[in-house]
Amino acid sequence: MQKYFLLTFLLIFSLLPAHSKNHEKKYLIGFSQCISSDTWRQTMQAEMQNELVLYPNFELVIKDANGNSQQQIQDVEDFLKMGIDLLIISPNESKPLTPVVQSVYQKGIPVIVIDRNIDSDDYTVYIGANNYEIGLAAGQYAANLLKGNGKIVEIWGLKGSTPALSRHKGFMDVISKYPDLQVIFSETGEWEEEGGRKKMSEALDLLENIDLVFAHNDYMALGAWQMAREKNRAKDISFLGVDGLPGIDGGVQQVIDHKLNATFLYPTGGDKAIDMAWQILNDEPIEKEMILQTVVIDSSNANVIKLQTDQILTLQDKIQTFKTIINEQLIKYEGQRTILIISLGFLFIVVALSFLLFTAYRSKNIINIKLEKHRTEIQKRNHELLEVSKKLEEATQAKLRFFTNLSHEFRTPLTLILGPLESTLAKKNLNKEDRHTFERMNRNANRLLRMINQLMDMRKIDNEKMDVRIGHYDLIKFVAEIKESFDELASKRNINFSFRSNLSKVELYFDFDKLDKIFFNLLSNAFKFTSDAGNISISIDEISHQFDHQTSEAVEIEIRDNGRGMSPEHIERIFDRFYQIEQESNKLGTGIGLSLTKSFVELHKGTIDVKSQKGKGTSFFIYLRKGHEHFDSSELITETDQRHSNNNLLDELVPTKDEKQEKETQLPFEDKPSVLVVEDNADVRSYIRESLHLHYRITEVENGLDALNSIKEEEPDLIVSDIMMPVMDGLEMTRKIKTDINTCHIPVILLTAKSSEQNRIEGIEEGADSYIPKPFNSKHLEVRVKKLIEGRRNIRAFYKNNYTQIEKLDEQISPLDKKFIRKVNDLIDLNLADSNFKVEALSEELNMSRVHFYRKIKSITDMTATEYLRNYKLKRAAAILMKNEFSISEVAYQTGFTSSSYFSKCFKELYTITPQQYMNS
Ligand code: FRU
Repeated sequence: MQKYFLLTFLLIFSLLPAHSKNHEKKYLIGFSQCISSDTWRQTMQAEMQNELVLYPNFELVIKDANGNSQQQIQDVEDFLKMGIDLLIISPNESKPLTPVVQSVYQKGIPVIVIDRNIDSDDYTVYIGANNYEIGLAAGQYAANLLKGNGKIVEIWGLKGSTPALSRHKGFMDVISKYPDLQVIFSETGEWEEEGGRKKMSEALDLLENIDLVFAHNDYMALGAWQMAREKNRAKDISFLGVDGLPGIDGGVQQVIDHKLNATFLYPTGGDKAIDMAWQILNDEPIEKEMILQTVVIDSSNANVIKLQTDQILTLQDKIQTFKTIINEQLIKYEGQRTILIISLGFLFIVVALSFLLFTAYRSKNIINIKLEKHRTEIQKRNHELLEVSKKLEEATQAKLRFFTNLSHEFRTPLTLILGPLESTLAKKNLNKEDRHTFERMNRNANRLLRMINQLMDMRKIDNEKMDVRIGHYDLIKFVAEIKESFDELASKRNINFSFRSNLSKVELYFDFDKLDKIFFNLLSNAFKFTSDAGNISISIDEISHQFDHQTSEAVEIEIRDNGRGMSPEHIERIFDRFYQIEQESNKLGTGIGLSLTKSFVELHKGTIDVKSQKGKGTSFFIYLRKGHEHFDSSELITETDQRHSNNNLLDELVPTKDEKQEKETQLPFEDKPSVLVVEDNADVRSYIRESLHLHYRITEVENGLDALNSIKEEEPDLIVSDIMMPVMDGLEMTRKIKTDINTCHIPVILLTAKSSEQNRIEGIEEGADSYIPKPFNSKHLEVRVKKLIEGRRNIRAFYKNNYTQIEKLDEQISPLDKKFIRKVNDLIDLNLADSNFKVEALSEELNMSRVHFYRKIKSITDMTATEYLRNYKLKRAAAILMKNEFSISEVAYQTGFTSSSYFSKCFKELYTITPQQYMNS
């Protein structure tokens, strides 16, 4: 790039005008002309100009003194001021001009004196013809012409100029040799034509005989001839001039025209002066005098000379034309060069800009690369940070998982503490002290359980796995029940605990369990911070309230205490997780109760507020919307679900009969229903066994797989199983049982530490009949087992009488069983008349072993397979008999009985009346 830059620059430089380069120095030459009105002088200047074509570094400035010596002095001084490098001067008069020329010369400025001279040698070169010799030649020519006898008129040039003096002298030096030659009139015409006329006129008037006129130049000679002709005396007189200029006005032509007899060539030396200037300025060797050749021109050679001079003039014209052309070309060239320079200048700018652009682009690229590197580094770092935070998150999650699992694990031992404790407390024969101890143990174990539950709820909220099961309840009744559970505590501590509402019933949609926890938390807090004999109140009102800038019908619940209250900085943060006010260790909670409470309220799309004053008390306000439009339909539960979940919580915990009574109703061992306990924890297993062994035959296994094997051996009436177990968990086991036609009728209770709704649903989806969360109360388990077995029994009893009406069993029988029975019935109907269609054929059609088929029929209908087949046929027979269209033996035949007496016997056994009686009735 720099290379192009440099090349462009050099190119422009080479095109710059020559004067800008040091090696072609310009010279300023001043030419001081005495006068320039006549052709001779103009010829001189033209010659100079022609010659200058060869010296382009010469600049020539001409000043015309107009025949005025003083003016000429001034002109020279002006030249000095201009700083000329060389002076050319043709002095008007020698004397007045000598000092100024000397001073120039003495300043070291070369001086070329041309044509007329000064009175000193203080010049560098003199150029001119020898005027004395011209005078001599003219004198000799006159003497010859006049053959040594005649009268002569001499018309001088300017008397103070050297040519005039020298020409006169030379002329007179010859004339004086001829005694018969007389100069009878000698006056100056001052080099001009008019001067010649004037002096000739005077001479003619004065003199009668004039033979020859010698004028110092052709102008004056012509003026004299004109005057003589005007006075008709020209024919008698010969005229001699000096200069011999070519051209129509020149002396040569006048000779040819017979106006002059002869003229003496006096070259101007203009071209020589320029050449000489070059030599001087280039320090070339020179001679001080450059004498130009002269020649006489008369009728003998005038034509030849004219030819030559005309040629010279033509050449000079051509030179001038060329010069003009060259000048034009130069101007053009200058113009083009200027354009080229400008273009190159532009090119240079473009190149320079391109270079700058290129450099900028390159540095931009470099910056970009750096930035990119930087970005990659940042990305890498971000990635690393992400990785670290991911790992941290994973570690946190792992810890939390561990923590949650640990919490789960706490619930099993808690079961083993709380269960026996409750059983013990239920005993009537405890002494007061033991009861007191057990009650304290019970309270604290429950407290521990609550804390664990809270921790697990917190995890669920964090993982957004906390679902709500919104049911429709009477809030007044709900709160009254909760209030009751705190009454005992209130009365013990002499706290005035009240519940006020102007409404007898408030219908509200809420999650029973969550609102229970909300109340429990807020009331526990109130009791914690209210001193004995204080006041705690609950009040409920129906109001209009703003939820997210929208007014809705709502319920306001206020829980107020006159306890210690809080200062504003605490109020602000009271719902923050882990936030604790109290520093007293006995009042220190987990710090998650209120945070959970708030989350639960928010799950209801409600709001919670607190007002408190230090030392005066605290009020919590809960606002819940009426109606259920603010809940997702998936969050709403059915009336049945509602009953189910509430019954589970409340009713079943109440034992139906006391233990003494239970013992009395015990069955002999072999008649007891069998329960298979599937649980990996030996303590829990034995706890379950202890809870159930009075009324049930217990078989114990440690995991789902063992359970499945055990079922094959002996089918239990019910299975109680844990969920989390090694080898095969409870859910898989349940699925296997419930999808096998041979076992799907066996009721399964899942018993687990996983208490979330999610697990509950999972368990039910697998077909579990019931679900009991750990820790469980032994009574709770007992009741549930009993109810399920009774339920089975009822179904069987019902079935025994309604086995053709399977639809009636809808809810209480598993879909698989229903399908099974339908298929059995269809097969019997299809083969109704076939007496060979027995149990074996039936089980074969069903792809079942005989044993399994027997067992299945028994489990559903409480009948043997043979009994079922026979009874079903009899049921069909009864229906046919009812129509009164066929005889008894025909009906027996139609229903596959080989003899009508056997048919009648069986019929009577089932219906207690004979077929005949049945028909008649
Ligand atoms: C021109 C001229 C010439 C003459 C010369 C003498 O001005 O008069 O005719 O030869 O000057 O200096």
